[in-house]
Amino acid sequence: MTCARDAAEAMGIVSSQHLDLVLCDVKMPGVNGIELVRQIKDYDADLPCIVMTGYGTPENSVEALRAGAFWYLEKPFEQGNLDAVRRLVEQAIEHGRLKAENRQLQNQLRMRYRFENIVGHSPGLRQVLETVEKIADSDSTILVRGESGTGKELIARAIHFNSARSERMMVTVNCGAIPEELLESELFGHLRGAFTSAIAHREGRFALADGGTIFLDEIGDMSQTLQVKLLRVLQDRTFEPVGSSKTVKVDVRVVAATHQDLEDAMARGRFREDLFYRLNVIPIEVPPLRERREDIPLLVHHFLDVVNQEKGKQIEGVSPDAMQLLVDWYWPGNVRELENVMERMVLLKGEGEIGTEDLPEAVRDGRDTPRARAPRIPSSGIAYNELVGDFETDLILQALEQTGWNKNRAAQLLGLNRTTLLEKIKKKNLEPRDE
Ligand SMILES: Nc1ncnc2c1ncn2[C@@H]1O[C@H](COP(=O)(O)OP(=O)(O)O)[C@@H](O)[C@H]1O
Ligand SMILES: [Mg+2]
Repeated sequence: MTCARDAAEAMGIVSSQHLDLVLCDVKMPGVNGIELVRQIKDYDADLPCIVMTGYGTPENSVEALRAGAFWYLEKPFEQGNLDAVRRLVEQAIEHGRLKAENRQLQNQLRMRYRFENIVGHSPGLRQVLETVEKIADSDSTILVRGESGTGKELIARAIHFNSARSERMMVTVNCGAIPEELLESELFGHLRGAFTSAIAHREGRFALADGGTIFLDEIGDMSQTLQVKLLRVLQDRTFEPVGSSKTVKVDVRVVAATHQDLEDAMARGRFREDLFYRLNVIPIEVPPLRERREDIPLLVHHFLDVVNQEKGKQIEGVSPDAMQLLVDWYWPGNVRELENVMERMVLLKGEGEIGTEDLPEAVRDGRDTPRARAPRIPSSGIAYNELVGDFETDLILQALEQTGWNKNRAAQLLGLNRTTLLEKIKKKNLEPRDE
């Protein structure tokens, strides 16, 4: 037990020692006890304080509670109520301990969503994480783009949990999964009777996210009408619930995501340009897995560990051949697909090492695979024949290089007749590229 003669001395002790509980008088020289409680709570919200009011004024006790005191005690203590005092002190200490413990658990949860659970060391992913680190703590609107399954939601969580808003909620709305008619009331809430099925007042997700972050997933699927309403929220953080004329103001950070080509959607008039520019304050592009293949082995081991642990399996690893096939597959479903494949294999196999025979057929054959993505056609147009020709040349040269110019095997790789390949090589006058 340590004693302090006034608030200043008490604060000195609070800031230099670990304490379980503070007991203080209201009347003290200098700063009074209630103000002291406020200062302590500012410094350490978990440290319980009990205020002793000698003058029995109800205002004092109410004020003490409002300042954050655990409870108050009326002086003087008498023989008869010492037990009660002792119990109160014990309760306060226990309460403080639970609060600290709870906060610790919360922090752990938050840490899980920081970066530790984002696996990968490719330059592409590293760049994404560096951006996240830089911008998380600003309140800027963020647009996360990338194919399905690349980890956009994971990135959104990392942004939220690395921001000053991390103690508040991150509320997720999948704009693509909710029917258009319902999405508005989902986002902004509705009054009772606003429409036939609105049997009760309902708070929307924006209100729920007040003080925190709202994650608008698949923003590219939002209807034109809602795009206008969202634009307004982004501009001045206000909206009206469905059926209400009362304007609501919220303090919300917006993170949006989409796998869609918004430039294309804008060109077709399906996505508003003004909304796009409001959202695209800080763009983050998560690269597809096939463009960061060096992450694949790490992710494979990560998911092995996770599934082994969750399902009580003992898979020891993946054979080098199987790993090579996994690295070579073009993963149209990105990390989510890899996660599913790993889970299925671990469950089916149960123990030992995963070999090529355990891989899904498509991955094992690696055949009917990569689908070429044509470039977007700029308004100035393209040279069609040249582009297609270059593409073909590139594929043929790749196959020849991979096989050391063995034309039989190159033809096999390409799924072409040998004669067809020879004709093309001749016509295109192909020679080894020097390097
Ligand atoms: N870099 C990564 N490390 C670990 N798990 C990842 C990574 N990227 C994605 N995942 C996992 O893959 C799945 C799909 O990610 P998600 O964020 O939902 O993708 P998206 O929102 O882009 O469709 C989730 O289970 C996620 O935890
Ligand atoms: Mg998603």
